[in-house]
Amino acid sequence: MTAKQTKTKNAYPLNYRKFYQKIADNRLYHWLDTLPAQLTHWQKNNLHGEFAHWQKTLDALPNTTPSTVSLTNTVSAGTKTDISAGEYKRIENLLMKFKPWRKGPYHIHGLHIDTEWRSDFKWDRLAPHISSLKNKYVLDIGCGSGYHLWRMRGAGAEFVVGIDPTQLFLMQFNAIQHFVQDPNVNLLPLGVEDLPELKSFDTVFAMGVLYHRRSPIDFLYQLKAQLVKGGELVLETLVVDGDENTVLVPGERYAKMRNVWFLPSCEAMCAWLERCGFSNVRMVNIDVTAVDEQRKTDWIDTESLQDFLDPNDNSKTIEGYPAPKRAIFIANS
Ligand SMILES: C[S@@+](CC[C@H](N)C(=O)[O-])C[C@H]1O[C@@H](n2cnc3c(N)ncnc32)[C@H](O)[C@@H]1O
Repeated sequence: MTAKQTKTKNAYPLNYRKFYQKIADNRLYHWLDTLPAQLTHWQKNNLHGEFAHWQKTLDALPNTTPSTVSLTNTVSAGTKTDISAGEYKRIENLLMKFKPWRKGPYHIHGLHIDTEWRSDFKWDRLAPHISSLKNKYVLDIGCGSGYHLWRMRGAGAEFVVGIDPTQLFLMQFNAIQHFVQDPNVNLLPLGVEDLPELKSFDTVFAMGVLYHRRSPIDFLYQLKAQLVKGGELVLETLVVDGDENTVLVPGERYAKMRNVWFLPSCEAMCAWLERCGFSNVRMVNIDVTAVDEQRKTDWIDTESLQDFLDPNDNSKTIEGYPAPKRAIFIANS
């Protein structure tokens, strides 16, 4: 390798060469027109202040050989007996440095990463209703640490891409990927607004993101632009009771979250999807979030759902709004 090549290889902490090689050979090849420049710009200008520290933690994870990897009913890699007691403790100490772990759970060589959210509950609610993911190209927009990416791959998807701009979640994903080692599951540090019109994915998931968007209609068009014709959108969001014209726009905070904008009724959400040109729109599940799904564990140091609800009336948030209720919608492009 020449000096110039060495410099290029080590210029940035993350190397997307393998991802680019993969998509060069698949139906996402046209993403190469924009993606490398975007990710280089991101690495040059937008790395989190803690990034180098996180990367060091990641690099310190021991290289192990998991005897099993399961992505069907759980996300787990390896057993405790694959590794020494010292390695187990080392993995635990290093992964604890990536707190707060919000989405999961994960099982790594017997270590249970008991995340704030039981994201498997959401998967169980949607799985019976979606089209088969076998051999599909799947995109998960706002995927968090990527828990559902693994479940999508476990359900047979051929190529799974997640995007999420929160860099700690990227680190958590990379930590799990360190053990699972699946080149067909990738998380890119992008926001939905960074995506070109790829029109390439058979299924697009957008779960827990719509209410964070200031322009929900633009968001729906952005989702549609990622799908092949006839592809399936799986959208999950916070909803309120009401008719087609009901939308809650909370004040500065909703359940202590600052960046919550639009909470439609189920009927309004269906109408928005239809207005944006989706067909076969249906709501397949509605569920009030319970404290066994979102709760404080040893893997977060922050507050959780119980602290966001009115202590005297759990049907209300601490601000007096209806407590979090989530619905899942499916539609075709
Ligand atoms: C409530 S979490 C949902 C995580 C996961 N999809 C789930 O359903 O459990 C919302 C996620 O959206 C991500 N997010 C915020 N702004 C975004 C944007 N502009 N584009 C894509 N994702 C975004 C956040 O980083 C966060 O991980």
